[in-house]
Amino acid sequence: MVQAEAVTRNVTRDTPAGDALVLLEADHRAVEKLFDAFKKTDEHDLDAKATLAQRACEMLAMHTMLEEEFLYPAAQEALPEDEKPDVEEAYIEHFLVKTLIGKFEFLKPGDKGFDATFKVMSEMVQHHVEEEEEELFPALRRTKCDLESLGTRIARRKDELQAKLDAVGSRSVGDRT
Ligand SMILES: [Fe+2]
Ligand SMILES: [Fe+2]
Repeated sequence: MVQAEAVTRNVTRDTPAGDALVLLEADHRAVEKLFDAFKKTDEHDLDAKATLAQRACEMLAMHTMLEEEFLYPAAQEALPEDEKPDVEEAYIEHFLVKTLIGKFEFLKPGDKGFDATFKVMSEMVQHHVEEEEEELFPALRRTKCDLESLGTRIARRKDELQAKLDAVGSRSVGDRT
């Protein structure tokens, strides 16, 4: 449990300096660390699972929001026609990930389906991250899109969202039933 809290505190709150893609890639690495820590968690350590799943859901909710608010519209504008379908696909994958995040409103660690939902969500995110980093982000780097100013706006919005989350206080996964 102590370890799970340390992981969530250490890996997910820093906003590195850099352009939009550097920032978003740092989010990807942070969420991967949470997935990894979850995998290594003792099967019976329900508190640790709750902490890790809760932070992963919060991070993913923020990350998908930031990409949909800033990155994907910029990509749709900047990318050539034949690369626009990558953005369409990314929106659909976000929709699926958000649907799985929604399942945690009603699932607690120990419930049937909790581990399976987390596993499927992490696999889906991993696939999505690979596509972003191997296709969408490199394609965007080849355009004239101003990734520096986009990065500044993303960092500002992320701070706002995190402050809001801190103000309401995180609720444990499964507390919302
Ligand atoms: Fe994404
Ligand atoms: Fe992403």
